[in-house]
Amino acid sequence: MEFFHTLETILTTETPHEKIKKFRDFYAAYQAGNIKPHGDFTPKVFTRPSFHEVCEIVPATTLPKRGSLSTQKGKAWLVHSVLHIEYSAIDLALDHAYRFSGMPKAYYDDWLEVAEDEVRHFLMLEEILHELGYPYGSFPVHSFLFDVSQRSLDLLTRMAVVPRYLEASGLDSSPLVIQKLQRIADKESQKIIAALEVILEEEIDHVRKGDRWFVWACEKEGVSPESYFDIVEKILPGAKKQKAYVNVASRKKAGFSCDEIRVISSQPCEE
Ligand SMILES: [Fe+2]
Ligand SMILES: [Fe+2]
Repeated sequence: MEFFHTLETILTTETPHEKIKKFRDFYAAYQAGNIKPHGDFTPKVFTRPSFHEVCEIVPATTLPKRGSLSTQKGKAWLVHSVLHIEYSAIDLALDHAYRFSGMPKAYYDDWLEVAEDEVRHFLMLEEILHELGYPYGSFPVHSFLFDVSQRSLDLLTRMAVVPRYLEASGLDSSPLVIQKLQRIADKESQKIIAALEVILEEEIDHVRKGDRWFVWACEKEGVSPESYFDIVEKILPGAKKQKAYVNVASRKKAGFSCDEIRVISSQPCEE
């Protein structure tokens, strides 16, 4: 098993459970010290996401509105949309490891650990979705996360945009979703809330890892970490816009400074 080639095989595997099985075999061998990421490797730029056979992909702007959360279908649709983010996140974490050869071992340790977390998140939500009577692929999805990842192909941009911007945005949106479900307060909602709370807590660590390697890339490139929003804006125009709600406490745990938080939020922030 060769590190980068095997990751390419896992990334391009189109069936979720086959991908997970291949990843777990690979990760066990990596943790046992049997696969080492050495040598130069030229990664591919992928033109379509690995879920294109499983899900109907539509532009994010034309995604139909999900139904009310008080219905079974509305809840399933919500779970499906988070499940799809988790599935996309498996590939994102694997792509971080796959795309950049010659990095310290700690870099690969970090992103493979994140991939394992994302697999767990996916399986946890998939079980709930099945209980609600739907499989993965039941609702249309967008490929925004994949598209952005394949437009951020140098380490500095990738770390700024994917874990430190997109995943950090997830820290802001999860509490709002949890609040909506709390208003429904039935048995299914309680179960979804419990899963989302576990995910929210673990995502802080993913953003923190992104922060760590963003700062590392800044040092290597001689770029100031203060240029974070300018780097993100190049890929995602409008990234500096103020948000209605920012999860200040989780963002601070994940490495954001109050100066950064104030760019996107007027909520109080104390260092
Ligand atoms: Fe996740
Ligand atoms: Fe994550």
